Amino acid sequence: MTAEPLDQGIVVDPRELIRARQMRDDLSKFLSQYRFGMREIETKMLILREDFENDHAYNPIENVETRLKSVDSIVDKVTRRGIEPDLESVRRHILDIAGVRVTCSFVTDAYRMFNQLRMQDDVQVREIKDYIANPKANGYKSLHAIVDVPVFLSTGKIRVPVEVQFRTIAMDFWASLEHKTYYKYDKQVPARILESLRDAAITASELDERMERIHREIHGSDSSPVRPLSLVEDDEPRLA
Ligand code: GTP
Ligand code: MG
Repeated sequence: MTAEPLDQGIVVDPRELIRARQMRDDLSKFLSQYRFGMREIETKMLILREDFENDHAYNPIENVETRLKSVDSIVDKVTRRGIEPDLESVRRHILDIAGVRVTCSFVTDAYRMFNQLRMQDDVQVREIKDYIANPKANGYKSLHAIVDVPVFLSTGKIRVPVEVQFRTIAMDFWASLEHKTYYKYDKQVPARILESLRDAAITASELDERMERIHREIHGSDSSPVRPLSLVEDDEPRLA
């Protein structure tokens, strides 16, 4: 084969072009699988929201957001963690390519919605990080889970990991400000601002507690108390 000049006059070996196209197609297919998994979880959460609203005339979910990790972020994480730069290693080690964030009205709802999701018999929980019960040192709170969900492709069934974050509006407000601050100062946030953020996180938690107390006063004890995850057995009955 002879080398061909591209538009800008750069000479490229056609075999390289074929390989590059193949890589692009493989990557696109790889990312699609995560997009499908993300949609499955998003749909599950939207169904729970609608059904809950029908049954209880109350909406525990304020918002469901999805995001697919960008190729740049995947490459950054591969480099940071010293992961082999091939798709199979990425599949094994990077579990947050598909992300769903569920913002709930109250802390109780965050746990309740997670329990509703994990009870579904096609969902398998791989990992839980309960930053609500155990906030990060900077004040960050949210309930994180990596769940595997089946996706039915034309070629058969695959299981896709999806990172699902459950949080309240107050936690979301705080996390969004903290995230912006982190980038504004290029990760070198001054100590006094870190202190203010930690303070604000405590205020946000207090607000969550007060709002939930008021909600209970209005609606009675329909909202069951927060159930720490340590008390939730993994072999609990599942919805068939
Ligand atoms: P990543 O490499 O970022 O995925 O971290 P990790 O694998 O240790 O996971 P972790 O569960 O701690 O965090 C995953 C995601 O939670 C992040 O990508 C953010 O969306 C969110 N998160 C975690 N910690 C913080 C935090 O301190 N501040 C904010 N604003 N978000 C956070
Ligand atoms: Mg992440």
